[in-house]
Amino acid sequence: MPRTPAPLTQTPEWKALEVHARELRATHLRGLFRADPARGERLTVNALGIYFDYSKHRVNDETLKLLTGLAQASGLRDAIDAMFSGEKINFTEDRAVLHTALRAPKDAVVMVDGENVVPQVHAVLDKMETFARKVRGGDWKGHTGRTIKNIVNIGIGGSDLGPVMAYEALKAYSQRALNFRFVSNIDGTDFAEAVIDLNPEETLFIVASKTFTTLETMTNANSARDWALQALKDPAAIARHFVAVSTNADAVARFGIDTANMFGFWDWVGGRYSMCSAIGLSTMLAIGPKNFRAMLAGFHEMDEHFRTAPFERNLPVLMGLLGLWYNNFFDAQTIAVLPYEQYLKRFPAYLQQLTMESNGKRVTLDGKPVDYQTGPVYWGEPGTNGQHSFYQLIHQGTKLIPCDFIAFTRPAHKLGRHHDLLMANVFAQAEALAFGKTAEELEKEGVKDWLIPHKTFEGNRPSTTMLLDELTPAALGKLVALYEHSVFTQGAVWRVGPFDQWGVELGKVLAGRIAPELESKAEPELKHDTSTNALIRRYRRNK
Ligand code: F6P
Repeated sequence: MPRTPAPLTQTPEWKALEVHARELRATHLRGLFRADPARGERLTVNALGIYFDYSKHRVNDETLKLLTGLAQASGLRDAIDAMFSGEKINFTEDRAVLHTALRAPKDAVVMVDGENVVPQVHAVLDKMETFARKVRGGDWKGHTGRTIKNIVNIGIGGSDLGPVMAYEALKAYSQRALNFRFVSNIDGTDFAEAVIDLNPEETLFIVASKTFTTLETMTNANSARDWALQALKDPAAIARHFVAVSTNADAVARFGIDTANMFGFWDWVGGRYSMCSAIGLSTMLAIGPKNFRAMLAGFHEMDEHFRTAPFERNLPVLMGLLGLWYNNFFDAQTIAVLPYEQYLKRFPAYLQQLTMESNGKRVTLDGKPVDYQTGPVYWGEPGTNGQHSFYQLIHQGTKLIPCDFIAFTRPAHKLGRHHDLLMANVFAQAEALAFGKTAEELEKEGVKDWLIPHKTFEGNRPSTTMLLDELTPAALGKLVALYEHSVFTQGAVWRVGPFDQWGVELGKVLAGRIAPELESKAEPELKHDTSTNALIRRYRRNK
């Protein structure tokens, strides 16, 4: 049972932040920059190839001291040690939380229930590597002897979002002769469109599911098996065209996949923290074992930084605390993630599960309702597209939306002026948000009086700019681990458990009850609320 300390909002650290926030709410970033000419370089951390500029946040040295003090008082240091050492910190499921062990070097020792798990991790990585080399080298043939050209990953949530995000992010490193598709939605359109132009003789399915019971994934996997067998006829073909990634060997065998073609992982890997496990098989097939291992090394570097760096220079801790600052002391409801890198187009979607399934909680670990806000809504789009869509609201709307800008010095594709212009935009947006444009400046420019309120930019809108050299596999690993650990930091302060997700269960149970009511030949007796009953009747009448 976790300890029951004084309520968070009654702690001296929280109360001091409340008082301090009153002062900072009345301060403009213009004033903060004017008062400290070194601010733009001082409030930065340059670590692991990430230049993390947090100077455009509504903070000063005192804020940082108070926030890191809150983290200390919240037991973050012990919580980090507990996670890394394999303690069962996923309290409601009685599990260790060891995604960090998935990227630990071979000689590391991480004990779970008296056993060092690192050798198992590397055994699976080696098995993935052998398989990836065969497929990438054209040696893994389909049932009719044809070379595999298409890889279809079937999974959902963490068994989809990580793989698809990483595939898109690292496309520049991928083997272009292989064609990758990702199917997640139970909507038949997703599967139908994914295979519409594929030849079953040249297609390999990866059924990725930690539990191997998830309705969406199993429905899609069954349709994939039917689709393959319709063309290949022989049930023996399944062994050449289906592999599984799962923790549930029995269910994999029951589905008809040879467990020799199964890549395992463990209950101490959460779905949304699983992209470094065998769930990353499609990533390894795309970018190759060497690049995959480079990505793992990037993750590991950030793990070590998080584990050892002092809080005030610790990137995930700073990111987590800055998010918490606005969430709890400025009433901000959301955080926008704005990568100025087209390859990161799925990064915001990936972060939505990571952050919102983790910290979307309303009770503390000891089951008490919180009286403060927990996880914010994460959302975003790659720049510059968002600028022509929702940035208006960020600049001049009534909501405070802290932004994470992510940019790279060197482009993946050198093309005329494109990269300089892209970078000009990311720097300009952060500048405009922070400093805005005053009525006096507009007056001086001769703007008509009546137009001035419309053209005024209040500014004082906070953002972090993360500048990296290049989007390499290692850089991606560092970025993802940065967000993973920032979520952990916030969870520790909010006293919630970031590693379970009971909130997704009720809908699953109700769907299980409703499905037979939609499919039954006889008129079912409906016992839902009147709205749900009417919707079901209408659907049955018109389908
Ligand atoms: O329903 C939520 C969830 O449990 C996620 O946490 C998980 O990533 C996803 O479903 C998929 O689960 P599985 O890998 O077991 O199919």
